[in-house]
Amino acid sequence: MTDELVVTSIDRRPRLSIGRTSKTFGHVKVLHDVSLSVAPGEIHALIGQNGSGKSTLIKILTGLYTPDPGADYRIDEEPMQLPVQWRQVHNAGVSVVHQDLGLIDNLSVAENVCVGGFPTRVRLQKDLAQSRNDASVTAAS
Ligand SMILES: Nc1ncnc2c1ncn2[C@@H]1O[C@H](COP(=O)(O)OP(=O)(O)OP(=O)(O)O)[C@@H](O)[C@H]1O
Ligand SMILES: [Mg+2]
Repeated sequence: MTDELVVTSIDRRPRLSIGRTSKTFGHVKVLHDVSLSVAPGEIHALIGQNGSGKSTLIKILTGLYTPDPGADYRIDEEPMQLPVQWRQVHNAGVSVVHQDLGLIDNLSVAENVCVGGFPTRVRLQKDLAQSRNDASVTAAS
């Protein structure tokens, strides 16, 4: 037995991907066939001039906006029904701090990212029950 940590493989499958994404407001098409794919451990920056559609894409990813028909949004390779439900993608780890009026001043950066995902009493009880169950399975195996 060795203390050395050996990483045998890195999962390159995208956790999140969206393709063929367009968005039209009225007569103005803001997004033209945009694609984005994010694999575990990756950091991406959306860069573009004011009004180029960065926030619009992010709002589509969290269900605030519905894209034009034809977009292909997947989380862990599972196709999402559009518009996505905020709770569904949040539970899968998609979280956004919006640029406008999006911050709660007296919370930390980490807490702002987690807003909406704090355990409620019911969820906390479920999580505790699940943890106990996991522990007993581990202890028994
Ligand atoms: N709800 C809306 N209704 C109509 N037009 C909108 C709406 N939301 C955004 N737009 C328009 O879509 C375009 C893209 O806006 P968006 O906010 O996505 O740009 P952005 O790249 O995030 O800009 P910024 O760098 O200023 O944050 C802009 O022309 C904006 O006016
Ligand atoms: Mg923006």
